[in-house]
Amino acid sequence: MSSVIIAPSILSADFGCLTSEINKVVDAGAEYVHIDVMDGRFVPNITLGSPVVKALRKTCRGVFDVHLMVEHPEAQIEAFADAGADIITFHIEAARHPHRIVQQIKAAGCKAGISLNPGTPLVMLEELIEDIDMALLMTVNPGFGGQKLIPSVLEKVSILRHTVEENGFALDIEVDGGINAVTAKDAREAGANVLVAGSAIYESDDFAAAIKALRGES
Ligand code: DX5
Ligand code: ZN
Repeated sequence: MSSVIIAPSILSADFGCLTSEINKVVDAGAEYVHIDVMDGRFVPNITLGSPVVKALRKTCRGVFDVHLMVEHPEAQIEAFADAGADIITFHIEAARHPHRIVQQIKAAGCKAGISLNPGTPLVMLEELIEDIDMALLMTVNPGFGGQKLIPSVLEKVSILRHTVEENGFALDIEVDGGINAVTAKDAREAGANVLVAGSAIYESDDFAAAIKALRGES
């Protein structure tokens, strides 16, 4: 893989000073800012909504990579697009009409991603893969930061990478959950090119070094 995109998850940041927490990781070399939106229904926790994203967009740099872990994602697409999201990813498990939601995200001017939980098979992407910009394969069950990566998901990553290369699809493969310097190497080798990391970055003393380590640079 020639270039790896790093997406720090602000779930592990200090919510009391999100603006500076975000700009610090961007200044440290991260391309994306991974924003975990949880509604207390699709997953147990509640994090933040589009008004917070709108406020952050005014002062924060970086590509806003919004990960919707919510029921009825179709009800929130325009609000997040207006708030300044660049990429909007929803869960296939929460979508009754996923194809329509992909069109909705694109019509709102954003890149569209679909996420699969660890227990959801890749076949769920089959009819959608040519229409989306990114597949987010969860490497933990969603809802909490700081969990351990589930190794069997990496096999799913490599099968998807193979499909993408074989067919010449323009699709980013993002992994999310339990990514640290060690598991990042496995994820990159399996074919992921966008790495989300929350605790591995925000709990380190040196954001730039942590980001480099995720890329496999020392
Ligand atoms: C989990 C979230 C992740 C999480 C990753 O539901 O989607 O983005 O913050 O955190 P770490 O990297 O600590 O596993
Ligand atoms: Zn996430």
